[in-house]
Amino acid sequence: MPPSPETGTWQRLKRMPRRASEVLRDEGVRGLGSHVLGVLGDVVRYRRAVLLVRPLGDPIPTATARIPVEISLLKPSEIDEYVAFQPDITTAQARHRFERGDKCFVARHQGIIVNASWSAEGAAWINYFERRLPLAPGEVYSYHNYTDPRYRGNNVPFVREVYLLRHFRDLGYRRLVAIVIPENKPAFASPEKSGYRRVGVIGYLKIGPWRYERMSAWHRRDQLE
Ligand SMILES: CC(C)(COP(=O)(O)OP(=O)(O)OC[C@H]1O[C@@H](n2cnc3c(N)ncnc32)[C@H](O)[C@@H]1OP(=O)(O)O)[C@@H](O)C(=O)NCCC(=O)NCCS
Repeated sequence: MPPSPETGTWQRLKRMPRRASEVLRDEGVRGLGSHVLGVLGDVVRYRRAVLLVRPLGDPIPTATARIPVEISLLKPSEIDEYVAFQPDITTAQARHRFERGDKCFVARHQGIIVNASWSAEGAAWINYFERRLPLAPGEVYSYHNYTDPRYRGNNVPFVREVYLLRHFRDLGYRRLVAIVIPENKPAFASPEKSGYRRVGVIGYLKIGPWRYERMSAWHRRDQLE
């Protein structure tokens, strides 16, 4: 299907030959190369991630970290502490997560937050896919696992994850789901130690306004139980 004349993509495509000759004249071949990559990145997008599922009926292991840590649920009154630890998130964004009911699990070492992750129910807003995925009753989406770079490699996310699994199991939930980008090897360590299983790859290819979704693994997640 050709791009609709109404879309910004169509407008950009129409302007492209003139813009290309301007860039070539002003910035040379190198400049043109970076502009082409920029435009392509805007028009064509392919994103995929591994879907991980953790049925809460499976036994939960015990975990220890290489540094002493205490795990707890972040209180809304502690948002400033979280934002100081995770500079990619603003106070307003963290507050918004609390308002929609998400929980934040934090690991503190000597009183300082060194790792955290969030969980959501009802629906998973997946930033990387720019989309919302509905969750089944009893299902929790675990996201935004982050360790302060000074404390990485200490197994802290594993301890925090085990706490999180017990928390939801004790409340009667059925399973956790998470996604990890295949290249992000360190991000697989704690989910796999804590019993998440790889279900498959989900993602999408977007060319202009056209979007092809690959979601069969998402629909298969029930078959694990
Ligand atoms: C992914 C992330 C949370 C892992 O945090 P972490 O505290 O280092 O986690 P772990 O201690 O479980 O280490 C993970 C693996 O990476 C290795 N590793 C990572 N950083 C390391 C470091 N600085 N020194 C030594 N080993 C390191 C560990 O050896 C471990 O592998 P292993 O289980 O085979 O020993 C962290 O890298 C991070 O915050 N990344 C940026 C945000 C991100 O990508 N989040 C994941 C989104 S899905």
